[in-house]
Amino acid sequence: MSLVTGGCGFIGSNFILDWLAIENEPVLVLDKLTYAGNISNLEQVQSHPLFTFVKGDINDKDLLETLFKKYQPRAILNFAAESHVDRSINDPDQFIRNNVNGTFCLLESARQYWLKLNTVEQASFRFLQVSTDEVYGSLKTYDPPFNETTKYSPNNPYSASKAAADHLVNAYFHTYGLPIFITNCSNNYGPLQFPEKLIPFTLLNALQNKPLLIYGDGLQIRDWLYVTDHCAAIRQVLANGKPGETFNVGGQSEKTNLEVVNTVCQILDEIKPHPNSIPYASLITHIKDRPGHDRRYAIDAAKIRHELEWEPKENFASGLRKTISWYLNNLSWIQTIKSHSSFQNWLELNYEKRGSE
Ligand code: NAD
Ligand code: TYD
Repeated sequence: MSLVTGGCGFIGSNFILDWLAIENEPVLVLDKLTYAGNISNLEQVQSHPLFTFVKGDINDKDLLETLFKKYQPRAILNFAAESHVDRSINDPDQFIRNNVNGTFCLLESARQYWLKLNTVEQASFRFLQVSTDEVYGSLKTYDPPFNETTKYSPNNPYSASKAAADHLVNAYFHTYGLPIFITNCSNNYGPLQFPEKLIPFTLLNALQNKPLLIYGDGLQIRDWLYVTDHCAAIRQVLANGKPGETFNVGGQSEKTNLEVVNTVCQILDEIKPHPNSIPYASLITHIKDRPGHDRRYAIDAAKIRHELEWEPKENFASGLRKTISWYLNNLSWIQTIKSHSSFQNWLELNYEKRGSE
């Protein structure tokens, strides 16, 4: 049995759907179901014999102890986190609570459980922390991409909270010998991504004939990876990685935000033309930049490619087409989120009083 925390969020739910399609091992999902966690993401596996769901918080030590005793996991994969940079700027508190304290509580509970295992079980136990490239900070135009030895230099409360969690995870390996991994992945996109993030937010706005909102000049660069490729990398690290190691994961697909939004528009122009026959790109609107906005992220994924023979299957063009098709075929999913008052409140808070560039 493996325990997956945050399995009802974007990457976690894709990971669970893939896991149950590929692996033959039971999986237990623990998720607090924050605004970003959606149990309906896992609807199709609710009655799968290898799937169990528990609603709960990784900060709940007693619950963790009960679950460890009952399910005896051989691995813990921690996806649970607050994940949106803009929310971390507006309200950092939840990021410290869930990402820093939560990871600490999960780690310490895992260690207490691990200490009681026999030596063979201790050696095969795994704790995998799902982290981000944002912990490395921002690159200049000609800097080489981040590798596993790049110094951590986080610039916003989200990346700082993820960096703090990673340091704790590393410390548990060096101090206690807990067999850990950290994966630092670049920006993901794909089905089931909450529509506050750039790609689904752009899609949602385009379909409503609303402005496509670009922070600042839109020349910030992210390195985009299709979510299924990230999930495959995590499975590969879990199965074949050497404990104590970090793996950078990325798609070698650096794009400016303007390129991303323009590509979304071109695909939509082709497969779902605007009702007034205008190009969707004419809806692009520049607004005031994100404070402390990191200019460029890029990942050097040579280590995982060479040591674990991981390769992404999708490129940006193929992955984006799949993503857009998924959203167009699942409009009710996005409609449900859109109609929640908490989502409307977020749009008001982050965009309505923001002003233009
Ligand atoms: P998400 O916001 O879509 O989902 C997070 C999930 O964690 C939600 O289901 C939420 O309910 C759950 N959660 C939050 N706090 C919890 C707690 N205290 N206890 C239990 N569950 C809790 O996030 P995502 O985009 O799926 O990201 C998953 C992980 O991957 C995060 O750790 C994130 O930092 C990391 N990551 C994300 C990206 C990306 O592009 N989205 C890239 C690299 C790494
Ligand atoms: P996002 O999807 O929030 O991911 P991250 O901040 O973790 O990289 O944003 C991706 C990029 O898109 C980032 O540079 C911020 C930018 N962006 C906009 O220009 N407009 C938006 O409305 C959003 C949500 C993001």
